[in-house]
Amino acid sequence: MDHVNGSTVTEFVLLGLAQSLGLQLFLFLFLLLFFLAVILGNLFIVFTVIFDPHLHSPMYILLANLSLIDLGLSSTTVPRTISDIFTDYKVISFHNCMIQMFFIHVMGGVEMLLLIVMAYDRYTAICKPLHYLIIMNPKMCVTLVAAAWIIGIIHAVSQFLFIINLSFCGPNNLGSFYCDFPRVIKLACMDTDRLEFVVTANSGFISLATFILLIVSYIFILLTVRQHSSNDLSKAFFTLSAHIAVVVLFFTPCMVLYVWPFPTKSLDKFFAIVDFVITPVLNPTIYTLRNKDMKLAMRRLSQQVFNSMEMT
Ligand SMILES: *[C@@H]1O[C@H](CO)[C@@H](O)[C@H](O)[C@H]1NC(C)=O
Repeated sequence: MDHVNGSTVTEFVLLGLAQSLGLQLFLFLFLLLFFLAVILGNLFIVFTVIFDPHLHSPMYILLANLSLIDLGLSSTTVPRTISDIFTDYKVISFHNCMIQMFFIHVMGGVEMLLLIVMAYDRYTAICKPLHYLIIMNPKMCVTLVAAAWIIGIIHAVSQFLFIINLSFCGPNNLGSFYCDFPRVIKLACMDTDRLEFVVTANSGFISLATFILLIVSYIFILLTVRQHSSNDLSKAFFTLSAHIAVVVLFFTPCMVLYVWPFPTKSLDKFFAIVDFVITPVLNPTIYTLRNKDMKLAMRRLSQQVFNSMEMT
């Protein structure tokens, strides 16, 4: 049954999220509801930004891009996890496991880079307001978004090239409800200490460095905002606090999953769920409930829909 490069493992066994029926039902409803909210909320942001010319500023274009990535990140694991909840013996084929891992790292990598781009956008808007429109011109926006995608894909490919050459000869119990490098590497039939170090050095270092960079830049922007006395102060505070909330909530799980050497399984599960369903609903929630521009855009959009319905 040789599979890939002399491996004998053709599938991995996934861990169930819950044993008791009550807890399974709860998780099923919880994940289903949140996943629906992730899809609807993020698509809503994307369409509002695309169709409303008032929102064609870099900040909202980047927000729409982030929404798209959030949707992608959630889709890498949640649908499978939902459909797996009630099956007793959860297995994932070797190929699907590799695909899932690859996309988690593409989406996760692009998300981190987009957060950096968004912080840079806020930095120029707040700290260099006179040059903002010159610096963040449409071409610059496209370049930054493209760079985020390219670097994210390079990151995922580099991890992938590394693991595709390993051989897996069993056991094949992942001890996790989805496929990711730290878990899969433990199952390779060789001394895995050095491999684990490479993964920690790659994903862990990137998470930690990006997190520190973002927090430092937000503190810097906040200090700059404090010195200015402008009407837009509360608006700036709103946007920044939303960004900071997303950053803290997104990066804490990443750092725990990739950097912390002694993860416990229940903590692992909890943090993974935060990144796959909680963070992705955060943006739609924050921006549609509390942002004035988005609320106005929603009103305009519903009026348009209403008018076009009256005409037909
Ligand atoms: C994402 O960013 C690019 C580059 O600025 C832009 O052209 C595109 O419309 C954005 N995507 C969405 C869904 O807004």
